[in-house]
Amino acid sequence: MCGIVGFIGSSEAYPILIKGLHRLEYRGYDSAGVAMINPDNRVNVYKTRGKVADLEEYVADKDVSGTIGIAHTRWATHGEPNSTNAHPHVSGNGKIALVHNGTIENYAVLKQALVNHGVQFSSDTDTEVLVKLIEYIKETTNSSTVDAIRSALKTVIGAFAIAVIDRDNPDQLIAARKSSPLVIGLGETGSYLASDATPLVEYTDRVVYLRDDELAILSRHEPLQVINLDNEPANVDIQTLRMSVSELEKGGYPHFMLKEIFEQPRTLRDCIRGRVVNNNTEIKLSGIMDNAEAFKNVGRIVIVACGTSWHAALIGKRLIQDLGKIAVEVEYASEFRYSNPVLNTNDIVIAISQSGETADTLAAIKLARSKGAMVYGVVNAVGSSIARESDTGTYIHVGPEIGVASTKAFTGQVTVLAMMALAIGQLRGTLSKEDTAVIASSIQKLPDYIEETLKLDPLIKELSQTYTYVHNFLYLGRGYNYPTALEGALKLKEISYIHAEGYPAAEMKHGPIALIDRELPTVVIAPHDDLYEKVISNIQQVKARGGEVIAIVTRGDKTISGIADHIIEMPKVIEQLSPIVAAIPLQLLAYHIAIKKGCNVDMPRNLAKSVTVE
Ligand code: AGP
Ligand code: GLU
Repeated sequence: MCGIVGFIGSSEAYPILIKGLHRLEYRGYDSAGVAMINPDNRVNVYKTRGKVADLEEYVADKDVSGTIGIAHTRWATHGEPNSTNAHPHVSGNGKIALVHNGTIENYAVLKQALVNHGVQFSSDTDTEVLVKLIEYIKETTNSSTVDAIRSALKTVIGAFAIAVIDRDNPDQLIAARKSSPLVIGLGETGSYLASDATPLVEYTDRVVYLRDDELAILSRHEPLQVINLDNEPANVDIQTLRMSVSELEKGGYPHFMLKEIFEQPRTLRDCIRGRVVNNNTEIKLSGIMDNAEAFKNVGRIVIVACGTSWHAALIGKRLIQDLGKIAVEVEYASEFRYSNPVLNTNDIVIAISQSGETADTLAAIKLARSKGAMVYGVVNAVGSSIARESDTGTYIHVGPEIGVASTKAFTGQVTVLAMMALAIGQLRGTLSKEDTAVIASSIQKLPDYIEETLKLDPLIKELSQTYTYVHNFLYLGRGYNYPTALEGALKLKEISYIHAEGYPAAEMKHGPIALIDRELPTVVIAPHDDLYEKVISNIQQVKARGGEVIAIVTRGDKTISGIADHIIEMPKVIEQLSPIVAAIPLQLLAYHIAIKKGCNVDMPRNLAKSVTVE
């Protein structure tokens, strides 16, 4: 969950490294560091607790020269965030510097073995064990740096993406990965590496996604070389990166999160384009069409995901069950991977992940594949580990999501799941052409519905002033919008640090209603659907106990506007797609409350954008 950057070439490395860290800072930001080999062949290492800006201040008067270097922005897993535990970590002789994303699960055993051989340690991290092990192997076996790294990595259990520089080998930058992401960029003035493609965009569009157990040698004067850990040559698959710098900038918005909320009409057009066809009567998803028999003969579907993607999964379950008439289970990936799941070869496991690098979800699909199930990825990051580990899938195509709180990815995920459910229903004959046309044409209108809903921003901003200093929030929904309530609660708590709980509205009377009082505002998602009357009685139960209610209703609602304290009117949309539209006011409410509280909405405390460690 950290960010790694590396460079070797003819340009000065430091400016490239520090700019790359800023691009990756959303991945983890409790400490940061850089290491360069300067023209006198000295390894200069600078690292500090805090953000990348703190590092820049720290190195302002230091020697940052050199045309080869590595850098790291950390999200700690072993050893508290401080300058000692920050990366890069250095060998005892000061010659080798290493940065690492991931966890070394057997680090304690390896560390003890090295201590028994007199190796000394200064940090509490697992990463320092790796660089000291490489040094130990190199010195005791007289190996090359590459061979020492290969040998060390073969003893490691866990996940890693590493970059290594060695002053005995100043013309090579060495990288390797297992489970954690690493992408290489091949530019005009040098070679780059990073945890994802965002730091590479302005230098090159020629990229290589390193695969598990591969080691890359980025040389100053030689072409890129990739080998496996057994020293066998691996295929160098150069791909063209389709991402622009402008997509990475804030585009005039104060925060990436607000930009990404307002991007949703466009990102959904991108997501839908070419997939709702024949005058809105047909869905075209190659992942489904190319696996028609698998979906026709499927036993059951299991959806695995984490966080917001898990909320999308809950909506996907309803959609696929209702439209495709297939039994669907939803599991937290972190639970699924250790539950010894019963899977048959005619089962399909759908993995939903924005980043495509979430460790628990990646592990879950590896387990599913080992049990013979087909894995279908619903992913945003093209070429990511989960995308490549899946048998097939559908990209959501909403562009890079930088804000830690997921917004446009959520609406993209649910839109893809709705299209998948339609495609599966078509395939299995469980959906009439008329029903398909109604839902498909509503999908086509989603960008317009969201455009309209975004106009509520000033009203929601005003409303958020009222709730800046509350300590608890309740979010209620039913049916398709029970997961929407969970998502609204997550948005609020992860960026404003206000405790918020999502609940099925009817479950209130089984305990949570005891919480209701004037200090506990309740948000109720209450569109005009089959459960509307039931939700009204839930709202009345809250009001009867002195609770304050903010209701998200269908435009023109007259009943609830007479009961609730605040009304947010959204456009009328069919029940199956209402979570996508209802999510918008919930995103805006969370954003404005967090801003009013002075929180860092793009990089909330303790969080990271992509949880690539357990
Ligand atoms: C959502 O706002 C959070 N940032 C988090 O719950 C996220 O959805 C979760 O970590 C899963 O990430 P993924 O979609 O990249 O797998
Ligand atoms: N496990 C390493 C550490 O705690 C790397 C963590 C990360 O991926 O940021 O320093």
